[in-house]
Amino acid sequence: PGSFDPITNGHVDLVKRTLRVFDKVVVAIATNPDKDHSLFTVQERLQMIQEAFADFQGRAEADSFQGLLVDYAERKGSTVIIRGLRAVSDFEYEFQMALMNRRLKPKLETLFLMTGESEFYTSSRLVKEVVSLGGDVSGLVPDNVLKKLKQKFKR
Ligand code: PNS
Repeated sequence: PGSFDPITNGHVDLVKRTLRVFDKVVVAIATNPDKDHSLFTVQERLQMIQEAFADFQGRAEADSFQGLLVDYAERKGSTVIIRGLRAVSDFEYEFQMALMNRRLKPKLETLFLMTGESEFYTSSRLVKEVVSLGGDVSGLVPDNVLKKLKQKFKR
């Protein structure tokens, strides 16, 4: 689960790692219509994810949900939540969410996977900032995402 605004190569790396352990992964966009400051619409984000995993033979499904992640996971029949850890600074936020989710649904496990070295500093927020200021993020996001980012910030 995540905002995926937009999906980055860090996310792609995590999905690949996840598929070494599990048969299938759902890349689920959490949406909140009341508090949405996203650059891309849910439809755009879904499409970028589908394109990024087009060659994954259906093992990576793109979806979106509203409301609590734990309720969505239950509806989907998912038993594990996968989150990526980059720097130590991710840890506190992730720890809080994992424990809250565990309190809400004790049987749902959160599993943390460490991103690859080259994705260590990649985040959707930084990628958007760099592109908006005219910087180059090629290699940090899938090619289809790079194209969409450039279109968004074209003046
Ligand atoms: O990519 P992000 O923004 O770090 O992802 C955060 C996300 C989407 C995983 C989190 O905000 C979430 O689970 N949202 C759904 C609503 C919910 O269940 N909130 C309680 C989390 S303890």
